[in-house]
Amino acid sequence: MLHLREVDLSESFCPPAPRPPDQRLGLFKLLATLKRNPLECWSAEFFREPIARVRLPFTDAILVHDPAAIKHVLVDNAGNYRKDPIQRRILASGLADGLLSVEGERWEVQRRTLAPLFAKRTVTSFTSAMLQAADQMAQRWYSLGPRASIDVAAEMTLITLNVLALTIFSDGIGGDYDEFRAAMSAYFAGIGRIGAFDLLGLPQSAPRLGRRRLRRTMAYFEGVIDQIIATRQRRLAGVAADEGSPDLLTLLLRALDPATGEAMSLADVRSNVLTFLSAGHETTANTLAWSMFLLSQAREWRARVREEARRELAGPVEGLADRLVVTRAVVEEALRLYPPIAALSRTAQGPDRLAGVAIKPRALIVIAPYVLHRHRLLWQRPDMFDPARFLPDVRGTIPRFAYLPFGSGPRTCIGAAFALQEATIVLAALVHRFDMELLPDARVWPSQKITLRPAYGLPMRVTAYDR
Ligand code: HEM
Repeated sequence: MLHLREVDLSESFCPPAPRPPDQRLGLFKLLATLKRNPLECWSAEFFREPIARVRLPFTDAILVHDPAAIKHVLVDNAGNYRKDPIQRRILASGLADGLLSVEGERWEVQRRTLAPLFAKRTVTSFTSAMLQAADQMAQRWYSLGPRASIDVAAEMTLITLNVLALTIFSDGIGGDYDEFRAAMSAYFAGIGRIGAFDLLGLPQSAPRLGRRRLRRTMAYFEGVIDQIIATRQRRLAGVAADEGSPDLLTLLLRALDPATGEAMSLADVRSNVLTFLSAGHETTANTLAWSMFLLSQAREWRARVREEARRELAGPVEGLADRLVVTRAVVEEALRLYPPIAALSRTAQGPDRLAGVAIKPRALIVIAPYVLHRHRLLWQRPDMFDPARFLPDVRGTIPRFAYLPFGSGPRTCIGAAFALQEATIVLAALVHRFDMELLPDARVWPSQKITLRPAYGLPMRVTAYDR
């Protein structure tokens, strides 16, 4: 046990999660369960073992949940483990040229060109936009009247899309926002269907449903985004580079590769706008939804977050997210219990050894944050909700490679600081103003459909405190 700390049980509870089957699933059951909800495939053994091998029809999967071996795969020997095509296809369907899916030298150029867009100073400059999005949502909730019932999961996808719209296109999308949002949902619904074929590594050429519809949606997006970019380029011509506080689109258009001084091609700008919208939308929405759910079940933590929000939101905007330490601990605990990207995968290029196991070229390496974050060897009371693990006095005792909601190494999430800041600020701003109560007949269940989301939404009653 690496992370020992006495837990105050009065404030913790065990939130819903599949009970790991005692035995591994047989192939047919595995296929059916993968299709329904991959989270339910993880048998008890995987939460106890540092490493395990699973034989699949087309490949061998090595499940790695030993922190030292994970560091070896993601950092020390990262060159030997490429993002595998399955994961790239699932996460980046239609976003072939964005940072999430490019490889090799193209990735290196994009990564170093885009790094300043997500540096701490830039992310901090988006605090007001995040507060504005929370404020707009609060106004909407007020207008619904007292004790309104809402689906908090759907509301959180609205707010994260709004934050992205405000931070990428600060002067609006120049078209029909609702149409844009509807196309966005259609896109996510399209790529949300992960077939068992995909998970078994069947070649891309095998026919799959929904591709054509997805292409139509992508074409719509590309058209809208091209128009926005063209308008912005006209506006930026002749404007001094250091004027005001630029949004992500301006930063993208002005970004230069530090090694060569070259700007990005327009096609790459467009792909990365789509990538930010896609990678930053549902992931952060689910983080917020799960945080809200967990707080709805934990009165004392709700009170602590509210008290902190009352105090800190009255202070300066500067440094706000850094002062919201209790709120952030709740967000980090939600990311531990329900990591939006529940599994990462890589393909071994050459032979290697991981935790004593020989790795052959082409082996599929799976690192599942969902399993890692509940691993019996790494966490005390792994299935219990206890944000105190992430409070500043003990946060440093969590081993770096036991907690990976944003991955690690060269391909770590470029938007991690953005997402953490957004989730912390939005959660504080909403909990400050509203009490929330899960509807008595609500079914809450985690389901992995690209991201780890509440399968039946989160129907809640929100009640405004005195205004
Ligand atoms: C709570 C929210 C988020 C979570 C949990 C999350 C998680 C992740 C993870 C686990 C990876 C690494 C995948 C791998 O190693 O295979 C990743 C990569 C990435 N994320 Fe995020 N992400 C979040 C929010 C965001 C946001 C807000 C953005 C941008 C606006 C973003 C953009 C990206 C991009 C571009 C990559 C690819 C980086 C590269 O390959 O160089 N993410 N994310």
